[in-house]
Amino acid sequence: MTDTPADNRRLFSGIQPTGIVHIGNWLGAIQNWVALQQDYECIFSIVDHHATTVVYEPEAFREAMLEVGIALLAAGIDPERSVLFVQSMVPEHTELAWIFSTVTMYGELGRMTQFKDKSEQHQHNVNVGLFTYPVLQAADILLYKAGFVPVGEDQLQHLELAREVGRRWNRRFDEGFFPEPKALLTPARRVLGTDGQSKMSKSMNNYLGLLESPDERWAKLKDAFTDPQRLRLKDPGRPEVCNVFSWHGFFSSEETIAQVDRDCRTAGIGCFQCKQLLADSMEARLGPMRERAEELRARPDQVWEILHEGGRRARAIARQTLTEVRELMGLPGAAE
Ligand code: TYM
Repeated sequence: MTDTPADNRRLFSGIQPTGIVHIGNWLGAIQNWVALQQDYECIFSIVDHHATTVVYEPEAFREAMLEVGIALLAAGIDPERSVLFVQSMVPEHTELAWIFSTVTMYGELGRMTQFKDKSEQHQHNVNVGLFTYPVLQAADILLYKAGFVPVGEDQLQHLELAREVGRRWNRRFDEGFFPEPKALLTPARRVLGTDGQSKMSKSMNNYLGLLESPDERWAKLKDAFTDPQRLRLKDPGRPEVCNVFSWHGFFSSEETIAQVDRDCRTAGIGCFQCKQLLADSMEARLGPMRERAEELRARPDQVWEILHEGGRRARAIARQTLTEVRELMGLPGAAE
């Protein structure tokens, strides 16, 4: 298997249109997407086909896609520089997914932890799409021959599978055709939720939304789990085991972090004050983003146009890959 060629500076990443972008998504992935735009050729997708593996309501789904598009733009994805589009605008994703399904083993998919979790959560809808979800994800990445994939830790298993699938296809049809994409992680590779136990996610309802108002945020933050041994104000706290303190690490200045660390250990401040300081730090970072999102919400047609334009640019690359793949596999060209 060929390693990613040194001149491959293309990256791909995706996010599901659940309608909520939470700070876990931002800290684990999106913030990195924004920074990487400087040095990479970036392709970002709102992966609607992945999200249809669970039951949804079509009208609300369109709104959710738009809202995620707005959040990404407000966070700093620059559509002049990067390609931003909705997955189903480029039908080649599903075509390549079919092709990859023939070089993916049943047993491999059964081992995917996300599949196990989701089939627990949606026991009455364990559909085949939920099972083959990682095959579509492999197609997303390799359709663009991307060398890099900025994601949170929960996607590493899927990425490993994408590498394996690409290797297998290459071995059969053309050694070196698909690169071996590498993960790009942030220091916040696994952000915990307000329960302080599980990964922050919409389905666990333990999230802080990226674009929430200070009131909405505070309503959740004030009840967020802290050091379980700190029961009274006069008990000294242990920042190293406190999830709220870890969030300070992502949002607060060095000075505030040092101050909170000291005052928590000496019981100089309680968890309530620590959370108030965090709320201020969060608002300083996220407030301007919420304002940009508000402006974009007033112009939905313009946002859709950005996504469609991204779709056109993505599709030009995707068609080229599929033309080559068809030829290498002995399939005729697609009808015009
Ligand atoms: P999704 O929509 O669940 O999440 C989008 C991105 O956010 C990261 N993330 C987190 N990072 C740190 N802490 C958390 N609590 C947290 N929660 C989410 C995810 O790792 C992800 O990077 N299957 C993917 C979407 C996808 C994709 C792709 C990603 C489809 N095709 C191709 C990369 C490449 C998903 O469900 O992400």
